[in-house]
Parts: sequence; C-alpha cells; structure tokens
Amino acid sequence: MIKKAGVIGWPLKHTKSPLIHCYWLEKYGISGSYDANPIAPDDLKTGIQKLIDAGYSGFNVTVPHKETIMTMMDILEDSAQKIGAVNTVVLHDGKRIGRNTDAFGFIENLRESAPEFTFKGTALVLGAGGAARAVVYALKQQGMDVCIVNRTKDRADILAKDFGASSHAWSDIPSLLENAALVVNTTSLGMTGQPSLEINLKPTKACICDIVYTPLETDLLKQAKALNLKTVTGIGMLLHQARPAFEAWFGIMPDVDAPLRAKVLA
Ligand code: ATR
Repeated sequence: MIKKAGVIGWPLKHTKSPLIHCYWLEKYGISGSYDANPIAPDDLKTGIQKLIDAGYSGFNVTVPHKETIMTMMDILEDSAQKIGAVNTVVLHDGKRIGRNTDAFGFIENLRESAPEFTFKGTALVLGAGGAARAVVYALKQQGMDVCIVNRTKDRADILAKDFGASSHAWSDIPSLLENAALVVNTTSLGMTGQPSLEINLKPTKACICDIVYTPLETDLLKQAKALNLKTVTGIGMLLHQARPAFEAWFGIMPDVDAPLRAKVLA
C-alpha cells in the first residue's frame, strides 16, 4: 500500500515541505506520496479526520494550526509540549501523536555547519517568538546557558522563565556579545522585505547563526564573515527538521544532500 503524508496549513502558499519530502521519496525509491492540504481554521477538526480516514501516516502542521492542533492530539511529546507548538503529527495505532522537530532541526543544522562547535558556554538568542522557543528549548537541552534579548522585554522574560534562561534588555547586547559562544537571530529582522538587524558584532568571537534563510546570507552573516567568525545559515534548519518526520511516516531517516539544498534554494 502507498504510504501517504502531507502538510496542513492555511493558506499554504509558500510551503517547501512537498518539495523536500517528494525529493526523498524519489531518492529512496519509496512508494509514497506527500501533498499540500489547505485547511481553513474553522475546518481543522474535520480536515484532520479526512486525512485519518484516507489512511495518512501523518502530516506536517504549519501556520495557523501549530498551536490549536495541540488540543486535538492523543499524545503530546515533550518537544511539542515545551515548545508550545506541533509541527509534525504521526498517526500510529489509531493514536494522534504530536511532536515538534524544530529543535532537532536547529541542532542538526548547527552540528553539520559548525562541527567544531561544542555547545559549551553561553548562547545569546535574539527574539522571543515561536521560533525562539524552539531554539531556546534546543540549546537548554544541550546544556548551554541561554541569554534572551527581545524588543518586547516581557516576551523575553516569559521565555526565560519557561526554560531556565535569563532575559536582558536590547541595550545589553554589546556586553552579552563579549561573553557569548553562540549568537542566534530568531527575529524576522534581516528577512527579505524586513529591516536589517543592526547590531555590531565586533565585541564577539561567537559562532553566528541566523535562522532567516531568505536571503540565505543575511547582513548579520555578511558582517560575521567579514570579521572571520564562524557562520551558520538558516536553510539547514528547515531541511533537518523534516528528517524525523519523514522517518516516522516512511521508515527511512533521510539525509540532507547538496541537490536537495540546491532545489530548495532555487
Ligand atoms: P516566529 O514564530 O517566526 O518567531 P513571531 O512569534 O512573530 O514569529 O516573532 C517574531 C520575532 O521577531 C519577535 O521576537 C519580534 O519581537 P517582538 O516580540 O518585540 O515583536 C521580533 N521582531 C519582529 N520585528 C522586529 C523589529 N522591527 N525589531 C525588533 N524585533 C522584531
């Protein structure tokens, strides 16, 4: 029987997930399908049931359903519970299992792009939105000390409290940079069409990671390169977060290779 998976979201215009999963299905010669299923917010419950009735092995979840769908799971894995969002649903033995693979994707991307990085010391995380939650969760799991800075300080305070991190004012960035082993931009600053992230990296020796991947090389990463700092782009997080989902649905842990990277960047 053909194994089926897909992505749900609304309006589902920009998703790269079908491209990634269909690439792997072909690469590993798996008899399976992965499709895009736009589901409006009011239809979420019935939309999920339709996929279950159609025999899906599971599906990815994107905006605006990542939080709402949490209440519709039979089992919520620790990753989803702590991050507060489900991006992957596995349908197994009549159960709906909700997980979040963003933290895995973030760490694997860092491991691949900066193999010498040891996850020791302090990480400075810029931003306190949904993406920051996954990054802070991931870094705390690796045993790092995490400092969070956000335009809206209250959000940084909440995130810090939830994960045993510390929160700081935006104006503290220069002193925090001096002590950081890793800097991660999780804000939307630097993304195509958004203002640039205006910070001066001079005081730091840290590895600089941007989870923004449009453009692939943000101004922040350009500055880091000019200062000879190790840099990590955001595209790998997107690719690596898809791997455990593919494994759960189709039975093979896929790898991220150069043709896949090129396809997604094209
Ligand atoms: P995501 O789920 O992608 O993380 P989000 O939850 O909307 O999206 O978070 C966006 C992040 O970018 C937040 O940290 C936001 O800061 P606020 O919490 O103060 O809104 C940050 N951000 C967006 N625009 C910004 C700007 N112009 N200056 C500074 N930070 C900005």
